[in-house]
Amino acid sequence: MQVIRTIKELSVLEKSKTVVLVPTMGALHEGHRKLIQEGSTLKTDNVTLIVSIYINPIQFNDAVDLEKYPRTIDEDYKMCEEEGVDIIFMPSDSEMYPSRPLVNVTETSLSKGLCGSKRPGHFDGVCTVVTKLFNLIKPNYAVFGKKDYQQLSVIRQLVKDLNYDIKIVAVDTQREVNGLAISSRNQQLTTKEKEKSAVIYKALNAMAKSSRTVSSEIIDLGKSILEEESKCIHIDYIEIVDRTNLNKLEIIDRPALAAIAVKVGKTRLIDNIEIDFE
Ligand code: PAJ
Repeated sequence: MQVIRTIKELSVLEKSKTVVLVPTMGALHEGHRKLIQEGSTLKTDNVTLIVSIYINPIQFNDAVDLEKYPRTIDEDYKMCEEEGVDIIFMPSDSEMYPSRPLVNVTETSLSKGLCGSKRPGHFDGVCTVVTKLFNLIKPNYAVFGKKDYQQLSVIRQLVKDLNYDIKIVAVDTQREVNGLAISSRNQQLTTKEKEKSAVIYKALNAMAKSSRTVSSEIIDLGKSILEEESKCIHIDYIEIVDRTNLNKLEIIDRPALAAIAVKVGKTRLIDNIEIDFE
């Protein structure tokens, strides 16, 4: 496994090989492992599997959040080694942003609701860094998790609108035994908070299984389940949206997504579940 820190060194990538990219911000956990494993399944002799590890400052709209973001580089190397990664691309801030970027990539629709409305500028930062990674690494495949469903939708749109010849591979959300979606931010939770946070998936499951079709009723059901644990869980949003355009849905008459964001203590957690329509 090779660790590449500069853009110049990326020239070692052989043009004849298929490139699979798994973009991450490090602090790798079992969710990331699954993405890397999915990337590996595309691996034949002629494939280079690259994991990028870069904490992208321009997607954080809160300086404290950026500072607190976990950094576990030794463990990250270990996991990449175990999973047969060929290259870790781990640039510095000055390598990625030698000066403040004056050109940004903005998605104007899918990124506006859900987390976009709560974290201004977040998706501009994500789109800009992912565009840069795509331009630098020129992957044939890029692997993303459904855990960040809105991000996945925005990236798919980016690939379509900017004519990238990149296949986006989507991976199901990996969970703890109690159902809590695995996240780098879970490390910031106390044991008690972690236990209580299982209620997020409980609420999402109940919403997906509900036989009701009026979204407001399903949302009320989810809310009531979350509120059972309300002492430490504060709802940021709980919504049902159309899975293709992420617009709010009043009636479930097409494939939908239930999405929840909460604050547990000082930690913000997000999760979602697909609601199928037959
Ligand atoms: P990060 O939060 O490190 O996540 C990297 C990838 O792992 C994303 O595609 C995310 O959806 C996926 N992921 C995280 N937790 C997961 C879980 N429990 N199950 C399945 N997949 C999971 O997302 C980012 O980094 C950044 O925004 C990035 C795309 C790298 C741009 O900076």
